[in-house]
Amino acid sequence: MVGCGSSGGSSGGTSTGSVANKDKPLCWFNRQPSNSSTGALDTTALNFNKDTYYVGFDANQGAELQGQMVLDYIKANIDKIDRNGDGIIGYVLAIGDIGHNDSIARTCGVRTALGTAVKKDGSVDSSPAGTNVDGKSKAVQDATLEVNGKTYTVRELASQEMKNSAGATWDAATAGNAIGTWTASFGKQIDVVVSNNDGMGMSMFNAWAKDNKVPTFGYDANSDAVAAIAEGYGGTISQHADVQAYLTLRVLRNALDGVDIDTGIGTPDDAGNSLTKDEDYRYSEEERSYYALNVAVTADNYKDFTDSTKIYDKVSKKLDSSKSAEKKVWLNIYNASDNFLSSTYQPLLEKYDDLLNLKVCLLYTSDAADDLLCVDLGGRRIIKKKKTTKKKNRKFNQQQQGGNYTMIYRT
Ligand code: BGC
Ligand code: CA
Repeated sequence: MVGCGSSGGSSGGTSTGSVANKDKPLCWFNRQPSNSSTGALDTTALNFNKDTYYVGFDANQGAELQGQMVLDYIKANIDKIDRNGDGIIGYVLAIGDIGHNDSIARTCGVRTALGTAVKKDGSVDSSPAGTNVDGKSKAVQDATLEVNGKTYTVRELASQEMKNSAGATWDAATAGNAIGTWTASFGKQIDVVVSNNDGMGMSMFNAWAKDNKVPTFGYDANSDAVAAIAEGYGGTISQHADVQAYLTLRVLRNALDGVDIDTGIGTPDDAGNSLTKDEDYRYSEEERSYYALNVAVTADNYKDFTDSTKIYDKVSKKLDSSKSAEKKVWLNIYNASDNFLSSTYQPLLEKYDDLLNLKVCLLYTSDAADDLLCVDLGGRRIIKKKKTTKKKNRKFNQQQQGGNYTMIYRT
């Protein structure tokens, strides 16, 4: 996400001179720039210029919550969870993207909480187990769970990355097909369905789990998944997209206005917007990253989460346009069909932009499988409609790896 305008950077809002692309404020969101095998942060991307930030959520805290939520559910429903009564609580796991740090964290979080994790090179192995009906996979192990004096085995019966043939990851349709294949061969053994996100979770729930009354757990708290809790969807995690979408635009707004970066975040702005540190978000200066905090959404509290596109009360006041003049922001989303980004994040950005006097323009959607190394802004989608945009010299590198909004300027 890039803030544009005749003035940019924190040099102040009064300059009328033009600002080179490489100096414009940039905010990565959703997927943190990082190495897809080691997870190490990409500090070069995170420090692209002095007004570069990342906004996301605390992936590990959320992953632990997801694992705990599944475990709590199993314990609370122990009398009926083992559908075939063989003493084994079997679950299947839909993995979003094996190289994506959110996906890795969630796979590890669930395996750790359930006791099925194995260590590889010092950390939890997040690789897909494939099919593991016999419990012999090397990627996971059988766990022992004691509840009310009875001992059960917990087994990851199967897991795979849900990637379609065109290369799109977190692919809901692939998950729907996978549950069909799995249930055809070992359906009675599946007691719990777990997914790295709601898009895939809902696809498996609708295809099979709902009718068979098998609890399904996802992540994101998309509105459709929250509504499904009333129909037996086990639960989900809100990654506080309402806080993230606000922060994504807010850091750009602050950089464009040349004000302190904490304005409207930890420090109330003139309109009275502010968030609560350590309750709504945390900030790491070293990582140039804002992280929203996650909340578990289950049958106990889902009614508070029914609209995932609702703006957050604490930051719902419009800025004075005489002080924060309208600026354009280019938005890049990697995959138009990603459930979370299209049904939750983007609608939120489109609501906050009015409040912050920003104009979000969807610049480019690569549909994940589109492996172009750079994007010519004169090319696709909205740019076609905006003929006034200069084409020359506006090329961007597109970070691939199934990440989301990951666009940087090519210098
Ligand atoms: C979300 C997923 C989404 C992914 C895309 C994650 O944070 O939870 O639903 O598919 O981002 O990068
Ligand atoms: Ca069983």
